[in-house]
Amino acid sequence: MSRIPAIIAPSLLAADFSKLAEEVRSVEQAGADWLHLDIMDGHFVDNISFGPAIVATVRKLTELPLDVHLMIARPDHYAPRFLEAGANTITVHVEPEAAHDVGGTLQMIRAAGCRAGLTLNPATPFSSVEPYLGTLDLLLVMTVHPGFGGQAFRPEMMEKVQAAKEWKEGNGARFDIEVDGGINVETAKLCVEHGANVLVAGTSIFRSSDYGDAIKQMRGS
Ligand code: DX5
Ligand code: ZN
Repeated sequence: MSRIPAIIAPSLLAADFSKLAEEVRSVEQAGADWLHLDIMDGHFVDNISFGPAIVATVRKLTELPLDVHLMIARPDHYAPRFLEAGANTITVHVEPEAAHDVGGTLQMIRAAGCRAGLTLNPATPFSSVEPYLGTLDLLLVMTVHPGFGGQAFRPEMMEKVQAAKEWKEGNGARFDIEVDGGINVETAKLCVEHGANVLVAGTSIFRSSDYGDAIKQMRGS
């Protein structure tokens, strides 16, 4: 199999929190390109994970880019705390339940010198992110309904990945196309074939017996 040209971003949600520092170092040594941090508020999604203090802690443990995914309401209010904590990319949701001025939040993130990402749930149509694509550093296409790790990948989301790729090519844009949820060796390949270049993976890396091997297999090398 040829090598998949993608950025691998392990999601810390699936790590063993009782040894967070060790997990971060292990996955870095195993060849991770970025770290993906899932922030959940028990309101926008039906789960609560961790906040800026943990992001700041992870910042001290690694040089890897921190890819912060805000599954929260009022990301405009909380983004400054994640900027302060050392995020390299902050991704916010486009759905009305996130209750913010999407364009304004993206602009604020960028003005702070951070990369700005936008994401959409499986039920949200591609057209809802289209007005913002020209201003993005990253578009995240959710391949599960957000809230929990370990869910089954939804192949029908490839239509949106493909649409993003076509928009990007048609408009000479440079944003990353990221996928998140149910990513493993097989689904990673499918996503890259449709145009994704950043692969978030929690369970398939942190619940494997050898992180290096899991990442290597995902790259197809
Ligand atoms: C889902 C999160 C994901 C999750 C992925 O709400 O946004 O980042 O951790 O986990 P896996 O890879 O286990 O589907
Ligand atoms: Zn995520």
